[in-house]
Amino acid sequence: MVTIQVCVGSSCFLRGAPDVIKKFEAVIEKYAPRQVELKGTFCQELCGNGVTVRINEKVFTSVAPEDVPRLFEEQVIPMLYCHDDGADIGG
Ligand code: FES
Repeated sequence: MVTIQVCVGSSCFLRGAPDVIKKFEAVIEKYAPRQVELKGTFCQELCGNGVTVRINEKVFTSVAPEDVPRLFEEQVIPMLYCHDDGADIGG
């Protein structure tokens, strides 16, 4: 399970958090229903660089709706299929 948290504090909200959430909902529904939990969060204290998104423990700033497919592909999908949390798997 991967948890995506989108900041819906006032600054991120005004910078387009609702559209970022809608885009995440669409890609989750299409590619990984029931494997990804999408939540709204209070201010993450990175307001100057919103929209702020947390994917498990990783934080991303300045996220726009058009960034969502790339974030999903590059961050969420590997987290779903790789359970070693980035540890070196050696050669
Ligand atoms: S409102 Fe989103 S980081 Fe503050």
